[in-house]
Amino acid sequence: SKYPVVLIAGDGIGPEVSDAVVEVLKAAGAPLEWISCDAGLAALGKGKDVMPEETLDAVKKHHVALKGPCTTPVGKGFTSVNVQLRKKLNLFAAIRPVRSLDGVPTRYEDVDLVIVRENTEGLYSGVENRITSNVVTTLKIATVEGTERIAKRAFEYVQKRGRKKLTVFHKANIMKMSDGLFLDSVAKLHKDFSDVPYDTQIIDAGCMKLVQDPTKFDVLLMENFYGDVVSDLAAGLVGGLGVVPGSNIGFEDAVFEAVHGSAPDIAGKGIANPLALLMSSVMMLNHMYEKYGDKQIHAAAESIKAAYNKALSDGEKTGDLGGSLGTQEFAKAVISRLS
Ligand code: NAI
Ligand code: MG
Repeated sequence: SKYPVVLIAGDGIGPEVSDAVVEVLKAAGAPLEWISCDAGLAALGKGKDVMPEETLDAVKKHHVALKGPCTTPVGKGFTSVNVQLRKKLNLFAAIRPVRSLDGVPTRYEDVDLVIVRENTEGLYSGVENRITSNVVTTLKIATVEGTERIAKRAFEYVQKRGRKKLTVFHKANIMKMSDGLFLDSVAKLHKDFSDVPYDTQIIDAGCMKLVQDPTKFDVLLMENFYGDVVSDLAAGLVGGLGVVPGSNIGFEDAVFEAVHGSAPDIAGKGIANPLALLMSSVMMLNHMYEKYGDKQIHAAAESIKAAYNKALSDGEKTGDLGGSLGTQEFAKAVISRLS
């Protein structure tokens, strides 16, 4: 039987990388049935809302989605597509593995980080106000519920995956209440995960240490805005945004997407790297395998992972990684290496 997955192709390079990934998944025999839905500019273009209710309903119904990057028009009163999606579906944990790849040489070897980003509150709560004509505010929100559930999810992740430790990036020395609550919740939840080592770092010094030697870190937990920034920073340690996948996971639903955006500077040229979305799709298959236990899903995930690693070590790379392949050519290089 086939498992339904909502597909949001996205904007900019979104449709290009989504097409490539769908082809690889098909060639790998992943038993998926795609349910295409719109969001972002693509939805606006069809006269719909930037985050249509029907798309949210489809994800609620099928529980799993693969999503390309979406563009939210700026200065036209729209709330970010991604913020809406994550908040409305309660996808409170963004999990983003950042790993060195064979065949993608960078300044560092053996980088193996996972960023756990709180995805629904913090500085991206979306609450902004004009106080006077000269003063505006953006509210940073931290709740006991929001901080405890992300802390629990992060500890569970470390425990379940046998990771080494959890490091919390924060700025509680300045934002004593919001980041203070974040730290309190981590300390409280640690009582249930006392076998998981954890420490805390003030984020600015933490970033300095991260670029000096990323191999000293393991799993990083932080508030929404910090997680956004540190994800791109960490991507830069392993070859860039073309190679970092991600997931947005709540209690019921999960949306898998790359860390990168719609890359308007290279959109429509057929040169975007589809690997970050392909890796996200492997995360999705692993999630579905845990859920459904179907060995065909597991086999597809393993085969795709082995094939892209082989392609990279054979020097098959897109421009962002110093190669010369286009999006489709890289997808074909992966497909020809599927077992
Ligand atoms: P971006 O991530 O789209 O691009 C940053 C740089 O990385 C650009 O030079 C781009 O060409 C390059 N890049 C990104 N992905 C790449 C890939 N797969 N292959 C090769 N090069 C790649 O960030 P930017 O330009 O700040 O944002 C563009 C738009 O994307 C904005 O509208 C933003 O709101 C949106 N965005 C959407 C996200 C999502 O839907 N999850 C996440 C981040 C941004
Ligand atoms: Mg970002």
